[in-house]
Amino acid sequence: MEMKRKFKMGLIGLSAAFLVACGSADSGSGSGEKLTVGTDAAYAPFESLDGEKIVGFDVDLLDAVMKEAGLDYELTNKGWDPLFIALQNEEVDAGISAITINDDRKKSYDFSSPYFESINMILAKQGTSIKSAKDLEGMKVSVQNGTTGQAALEKMFGKSENIKKYENNVLAIQALLNGEVEAVVADNAVVQEYEKNNPDKKLVTISDKENFESEFYGIIFPKDGEHQEEINKAMKKIIDDGKYAEIYKKWFGEEPNVDVLKQ
Ligand code: ARG
Repeated sequence: MEMKRKFKMGLIGLSAAFLVACGSADSGSGSGEKLTVGTDAAYAPFESLDGEKIVGFDVDLLDAVMKEAGLDYELTNKGWDPLFIALQNEEVDAGISAITINDDRKKSYDFSSPYFESINMILAKQGTSIKSAKDLEGMKVSVQNGTTGQAALEKMFGKSENIKKYENNVLAIQALLNGEVEAVVADNAVVQEYEKNNPDKKLVTISDKENFESEFYGIIFPKDGEHQEEINKAMKKIIDDGKYAEIYKKWFGEEPNVDVLKQ
């Protein structure tokens, strides 16, 4: 298993853009074990590629948690659907990818305690008639395949040809820019970041707190994995000691409301 993984990692490493090692703690737990953590680095500001480096809120949070827990790790860019397969096959020890904790996923995976509150939001072109999620009925809308954005739309409208599913969120947004769809549904911080950073694209974001539900992100693990407990302890510590707030401010420019994470 370990050999197999090393071999595979070597191959991936050769196609450099696909493997990005991230500042791992030198104060390992002593076991010498290096955890592999997967992500889908196409979801700024949580995880995205800066050249070959994976950067984002999740990346900094993971680093702080792993340092606090004294765990050595490597973050690799697996892509969204492959990440879940890798978790099921236990090819990765964990994942961090703005992943919403929900009952459906809890059947197959374990999660850390929550670290971020999120809600789905609509991204559309300026001048759109869309005012709420209900207005998306009968329109072509893009989502990243297998996300809560897809689930929210299917809950409202049923499975539909009009819900266009893309491998990652960058492609889902591209479909809007190309005029293939009239809107994108994805996590609020992600669509707001995109709209703000791309004024030339003339987009708007539309929130709908009635039809979209509040969600919380967690670090994901294979079912009955070994590291939840120490990771949860470390997560609690960095939330309590202000490290979490420091990372949050770096990425979102404001103080977090950490009370919502403690319920
Ligand atoms: N929070 C949403 C979900 O869990 C979307 C996450 C997408 N993350 C990503 N890195 N593409 O379904």
